[in-house]
Amino acid sequence: MVEITIPKPDDWHLHLRDGAMLEGVLPFSARHFARAIIMPNLVPPVVTSADAQAYRDRILAALPADLEFTPLMTLYLTEGTDPADVASAHASGLVTAVKLYPAGATTNSHSGVRDLSKVMPVLEKMAEIGMPLCIHGEVTDPSVDIFDREAVFIETVLDPLRARVPDLKITLEHVTTSQGVDYVMGADANLAASITTHHLMINRNAILAGGIRPHYYCLPVAKRESHRLALRKAATSGDARFFLGTDSAPHVDPLKECGCGCAGIFTAINTLSCLAHVFEEEGALDHLAAFASRNGPAWYGLPVNDETVTLVKRDQPVHWPDKIFTGDGPVTVFDPLLPIHWEVA
Ligand code: DOR
Ligand code: ZN
Repeated sequence: MVEITIPKPDDWHLHLRDGAMLEGVLPFSARHFARAIIMPNLVPPVVTSADAQAYRDRILAALPADLEFTPLMTLYLTEGTDPADVASAHASGLVTAVKLYPAGATTNSHSGVRDLSKVMPVLEKMAEIGMPLCIHGEVTDPSVDIFDREAVFIETVLDPLRARVPDLKITLEHVTTSQGVDYVMGADANLAASITTHHLMINRNAILAGGIRPHYYCLPVAKRESHRLALRKAATSGDARFFLGTDSAPHVDPLKECGCGCAGIFTAINTLSCLAHVFEEEGALDHLAAFASRNGPAWYGLPVNDETVTLVKRDQPVHWPDKIFTGDGPVTVFDPLLPIHWEVA
């Protein structure tokens, strides 16, 4: 039997939703993760510090009594966001980061940013106080091919933004391309990237080859195999600029399995098992703690968790439920498409 013990991981990009869905999915994240950066793309979005306070209260109220979990709140950047509200929410410890969704880029992003010049006062204030900006890095221009939207964003939006506000600390979230990896590696101290579990495990064939599989559709969409390999190399390298953000994003099955299915993959249940598999395949189990437990806290200026988690490699493949059943309906669990032998002890 092989096992590995690492400091309890954190999830630096998580969708918990609200109401019955929140109640249904929160226990799975809280079992394996000590903290998570909570995405603010609710309907309506979490825009003000008052919204964040109320959402945080709802998350803590939904947390089962036997689990400990710290939600690290984010604010959804709009063209009306008040820099003073952002700064006071950060100073009080209520809010960890601000999330930039280009308007129209993904689920519930229509209140996001259309014109970056309109949010410059917020970004400048954040640079001044050392508050990180989490970015969904895709352009929304319909003339740009969906598989190119991250690379084009880096060139036409992110790079100019970093030149304009060099002191702004930016997390390029759920990076999916070799261009994204190379850009982060070539940048200075103010840029890091999160990587999801599923982008380390699937390429676009999982969505499209042999039939259309909506449960592998997410945004940014999985790219071709060469990109997956670049992501694996970055994640397993131990490089402190790359850390885990699962982007676990539950949608009920009817909203995925339809004529225009939602983007999002639910991985909260089996992320750690899948990661141990990936890191073992890459001969890098000794870097799993860096990716899942150490690099994120270092980037966000937080202590590494004292608690630990042990992963055990079983002789037989481990199994999860195919679906979980929430008060809103069934949610399909990410199927990594190969046997996984690692289990959280
Ligand atoms: O696949 C995704 N799902 N990507 C996002 O950016 C949003 C998320 C969601 O909220 O469902
Ligand atoms: Zn997300």
